[in-house]
Amino acid sequence: MNPLQIGNLRANLPIIQGGMGVAISLSGLASAVANAGGIGIISAVAIGMTEPDYMKNYREANKRALRKEIRKARSLTNGILGVNLMVAVTDYEELFTVALEEKIDVIILGAGLPLHLPQYIHDKGIENIHTKFIPKVSSAKAARVIFSYWAKNYNYIPDAVVVEGPMAGGHLGFKRDELDNELVPLSQLVEETVHELSVFEEDFEKEIPVIAGGGVYSGKDIYDIMHAGAKGVKMGTRFVPTNECDASKKFKETYVNCSEEDITILKSPVGLPGRAINNSFVEKISSGETEPFKCYWKCLKSCDSKNAPYCIAQALYNAANGNLDKGFAFAGSKAYLTKSIQPVKQVVMELKIEYYKAKFREYLKNILNERFVTGNIQIPNIIPVLDIKKV
Ligand SMILES: Cc1cc2nc3c(=O)[nH]c(=O)nc-3n(C[C@H](O)[C@H](O)[C@H](O)COP(=O)(O)O)c2cc1C
Repeated sequence: MNPLQIGNLRANLPIIQGGMGVAISLSGLASAVANAGGIGIISAVAIGMTEPDYMKNYREANKRALRKEIRKARSLTNGILGVNLMVAVTDYEELFTVALEEKIDVIILGAGLPLHLPQYIHDKGIENIHTKFIPKVSSAKAARVIFSYWAKNYNYIPDAVVVEGPMAGGHLGFKRDELDNELVPLSQLVEETVHELSVFEEDFEKEIPVIAGGGVYSGKDIYDIMHAGAKGVKMGTRFVPTNECDASKKFKETYVNCSEEDITILKSPVGLPGRAINNSFVEKISSGETEPFKCYWKCLKSCDSKNAPYCIAQALYNAANGNLDKGFAFAGSKAYLTKSIQPVKQVVMELKIEYYKAKFREYLKNILNERFVTGNIQIPNIIPVLDIKKV
């Protein structure tokens, strides 16, 4: 696989592990992915729930926990580390500042458009030329809005962009009816985004890698989406059932035990649809029952906590800790393909094998008469014993 180059940052494995909250991707998973050559991401959302004083002192708890996890991850790897921030949370700028102070390599900015971020950096007098800023969007149009705004107002553009399609796990940047109808293919989103950003590449004489996420599960998926113009992929679901993932074993087992029919779309108090594995909690909430809660602070700008049927942060944290009667597991549309819980290293090895098999199949297609290859000829599992670079 070609490395992912973002400015002067080079990931030998072109995979960004998706930031997953609450407390699913912390230092354990992020450092393991970074050690495998990819970009490991710590999810910052409600990260302070791991601290004993969160309910009383949430802002400080969030900042302290994020700093701690970044430092712990750094102690476990020399690889590339990032933080995932949701623009929709009320303390996003404070968490952003912590990540910069810790000289994090990459910040992914999702769940909203980070239009005024360069202004914030300027106003705070923050000088940091190290960190790469990568917004996550669900359409080429949203990418254009951010790039145009930054270019016009700050003469500056983000370092890369993640475009995430409708098959992802977690909150989705699509309307419910868009998810009920035929889903827009990720390859189309990638092609449109590459096209949309080409003008900014010319104007700023800078390459803007487009990274694709949402339903990218196998090495073949990686190969196919790279063909559509992606320079890297963002993968969450595939890294949940790993030994190093920071969630409880029970959470990971929901992936191993689920079937395709169990993967469902729910309405989140965030105001967005979310993809998750169905369970009794999801059924209860979907049927209109509520899980009363006391809101200690409004962690999400868009949450109407007085009328919300349950607290999303608490439900996700409960699930991460294995209390699935009081929460649920977010999961991508391909989570049902999970067979077991594996080390990250093994997942990465499988991805490489699948990728090179897809590449080899394409190679054969090109040199042989199509008729021989498009049938169900199985390519044997010879790739690992060959020098795969030469293949
Ligand atoms: C369990 C889980 C939790 C997630 N939590 C968050 C989150 O807190 N913030 C966020 O921006 N994205 C979140 N995501 C989305 C991932 O960062 C990533 O973009 C997505 O998983 C990619 O699609 P895939 O799951 O099909 O690989 C979550 C995804 C999963 C599966």
